[in-house]
Amino acid sequence: MIRADNLSFAAGGVPIIRDVSFALDPDGPTLILGPNGAGKSVLLRLLHGLLEPDAGQVRAPGPQAMVFQRPVLLRRSVLANVLFPLRGPDARARAEQALALVGLQAMAHRPARRLSGGEQQRLALARAAAQRPAILFLDEPCAALDPAATRAVEEIIRHLAAAGTRIVMTSHDLGQARRLAGEVLFLHQGRLLEHTPATEFFAAPRSPEAAAFLRGELLWAPGA
Ligand SMILES: Nc1ncnc2c1ncn2[C@@H]1O[C@H](COP(=O)(O)OP(=O)(O)O)[C@@H](O)[C@H]1O
Ligand SMILES: [Mg+2]
Repeated sequence: MIRADNLSFAAGGVPIIRDVSFALDPDGPTLILGPNGAGKSVLLRLLHGLLEPDAGQVRAPGPQAMVFQRPVLLRRSVLANVLFPLRGPDARARAEQALALVGLQAMAHRPARRLSGGEQQRLALARAAAQRPAILFLDEPCAALDPAATRAVEEIIRHLAAAGTRIVMTSHDLGQARRLAGEVLFLHQGRLLEHTPATEFFAAPRSPEAAAFLRGELLWAPGA
């Protein structure tokens, strides 16, 4: 069970996350939605423990991994990138299995940084999946990808979710959110305005802000 209790975070005196509380549905996937600057990335970083809250607490038990909009890859082979965080005698088998999952087994010995953007993001997912996280945080994983590469990444996310990995992700792509989400957290100016099953959120958002967001009329919201 992933939960946040009265979470607050400010930077330079500016509140960015404001008294946010939730207990996520055990199944998910959870999509964190909201306009640019709403605080989605900061919330994800708080949940993953990359940022310390100023107040409140996070409970997200179990091993975790995170994938970012732009993958951070070592200047080494594809396989070496997946092996890097792994320990133990089965590391190689796990790495190869993860590369097969994302369709990169044939590229195992290529330099990682020469892959296309879509392949690099699949590699980042393989590296995360090989660690067998209970929770996988994804921050705009397809923001830099074309539609075909986006669909390939979505297939992998769906596969991991079906295999029991708890997915918590942000996306600015509403089509993607509809395709993947089990539940939606809607953030606006650092406040959690909605936490609803995805079907309800897209059919009948409760807040005027979410309705405007779904109509494409709420594109940017400053944190202050
Ligand atoms: N480390 C930081 N220091 C100061 N301001 C930050 C920091 N990180 C994010 N912000 C600000 O917090 C707000 C929310 O940022 P972010 O979570 O990246 O938004 P989103 O992911 O929803 O687009 C923005 O106004 C951003 O400029
Ligand atoms: Mg963001």
